[in-house]
Amino acid sequence: MSKKRIPVILDGDPGHDDAIAWVLAFASDMLDIKAVTSVSGNVNIDQTTKNTLEVLTLLGVKDVPIARGCTKPLIGPFFDAPSVHGESGLDGPVMPESKLELCGLHGVDLMIKVLEESEEPVTLVPTGPLTNVALLLITRPDLKDKIERISLMGGGLLHGNWTYAAEFNILVDPEAAKFVFESGIPIIMAGLDVTEKSYITSEDIDKIRAVSNEVAVIVADWIDFFYKFHRDIGYLGAPVHDPVAIVALINPDILEMRELYVEIETEGEFLRGATLGDYSSLSGKAPNVTAITNIDREAYVDMIVEATKKYSEVTM
Ligand code: BDR
Ligand code: CA
Repeated sequence: MSKKRIPVILDGDPGHDDAIAWVLAFASDMLDIKAVTSVSGNVNIDQTTKNTLEVLTLLGVKDVPIARGCTKPLIGPFFDAPSVHGESGLDGPVMPESKLELCGLHGVDLMIKVLEESEEPVTLVPTGPLTNVALLLITRPDLKDKIERISLMGGGLLHGNWTYAAEFNILVDPEAAKFVFESGIPIIMAGLDVTEKSYITSEDIDKIRAVSNEVAVIVADWIDFFYKFHRDIGYLGAPVHDPVAIVALINPDILEMRELYVEIETEGEFLRGATLGDYSSLSGKAPNVTAITNIDREAYVDMIVEATKKYSEVTM
């Protein structure tokens, strides 16, 4: 008997690693992808939306509603990350022209529609700033029960990557992150603590490229580009962050996790955007997060290689 698939909404700011998260998601028969929404983050919303349409065209996605989400963070100023992902957000290979269209709803309204229509709770997988998810919870708190959990990439319990204290996705919109982390919805957090261990080396890139279908070659080129920035600052490989939020749903056996109370800092001279884990249980608060702390890196690389093989028959 086939296992029931997990209904999910993918929400991201592609971004090389968002795109690879979606490669994994659409290759998996464990997920039932109900919608894909873009958010501003790595680049502005026009560009992340364009990239979303092109990535999903590449993957041969049909019949999944796609919508453009929030343009700006809830409160703070918007900033992006062209130094990491290039001016387009997906610099490197030439992408196929999009054959897909947006569904006509705002991203947050599409999330609302999916949740309203779903008979069972849906899992959200945000891999960019949490603006869309926070706005969903602010506008429709009654739909909380329709959200099974949130498996997100964001934060870092021990360090940041945009400041010493803060990781990019959280720092872009700390107020949104605070709202989401305090929502009471179960959160799986793929933070830098695990995603920097989820690095892909040049040898791994060769393995992916050797699959040699169009998706595999483009994924290899994306990681190659993404590695350039990180190689210059001493990484052993490209930290391919976002797919870990998908791994948490489809192959949690390769991960180590722990329960923790995590608070988002929105103020402070140095700490805005920090994700503070209460390791000493001094807050007296129950854990609100399942934090992923480690990964079987080899198994992670294998998952990416195997996922790309699933696209050998794709017709765009
Ligand atoms: C996160 O920021 C972006 O650059 C990546 O897409 C990832 O979601 C890592 O800090
Ligand atoms: Ca991202």
